[in-house]
Amino acid sequence: MDVSKERFLKIKEHFEKEAAVFDKFFFKVMPHYEEMTQGLANALPFTKNEKLKIIDLGCGTGNLSRKIIKAYPNAQITCIDMAENMLKMAKVKLGANSNVKFWLGDVRNFDYAKKYDAIVASMVLHHVEGKEKPKLYHKIYNSLIKGGSFFNIDIFVSANSHLQKMYMDKWKTFMKANGLAVHKTNDMIKRHEREDRPVVFKDEIAIMHQVGFKNIDIVLKYYNFALYGAIK
Ligand SMILES: C[S@@+](CC[C@H](N)C(=O)[O-])C[C@H]1O[C@@H](n2cnc3c(N)ncnc32)[C@H](O)[C@@H]1O
Repeated sequence: MDVSKERFLKIKEHFEKEAAVFDKFFFKVMPHYEEMTQGLANALPFTKNEKLKIIDLGCGTGNLSRKIIKAYPNAQITCIDMAENMLKMAKVKLGANSNVKFWLGDVRNFDYAKKYDAIVASMVLHHVEGKEKPKLYHKIYNSLIKGGSFFNIDIFVSANSHLQKMYMDKWKTFMKANGLAVHKTNDMIKRHEREDRPVVFKDEIAIMHQVGFKNIDIVLKYYNFALYGAIK
């Protein structure tokens, strides 16, 4: 098995196991999770009752989609996730809404042939290797209507080693201050170093430019976590 496939299976396995407790756990791990996901919903440039088509990449248990549905009640959302148990939790949260569809699989393999008003992601795309991102972002760009939005919340690395160390220290401090046990905080950092592939922020923006996005802006940033995006 190639290394990247093995890494993906490990990530999938983690989220399959974590699904039932994800919501409780993730609020302790992700700084300003509420503010970031609400910020993403706020950044979408639509009017409340528009009939929109939106994809939530790596939707997890559906927290971001829930905020988008609240802001845009007529939005049709396609929730994609490779972990069956995460999708099951999302179905409990969002499934009563007939405007929500679920697709089990890897975001890299989704058929992006239809056109969407927005494609969004939260804390997912750092699982994709930097070298694979141009291909995926190209598909995302092509799948958006003109005026469509791509907004993404993710973790990045700093090109500056002093800042990178400070960012990691601040992340650890956040997790501990939010009640995550010290050993779980250390496990989280080790897992991040082993499984995640965050890129330098300016490289992320360069890929966005390369595939055609203009007017890219950073909506929020907290140390190594950022919400950024663009309108096509
Ligand atoms: C940290 S969780 C974030 C969930 C959700 N977006 C949120 O912000 O609450 C990452 C999710 O992305 C999914 N995921 C990671 N890589 C993926 C991929 N290549 N394709 C589809 N889902 C993926 C995982 O299964 C997991 O549910």
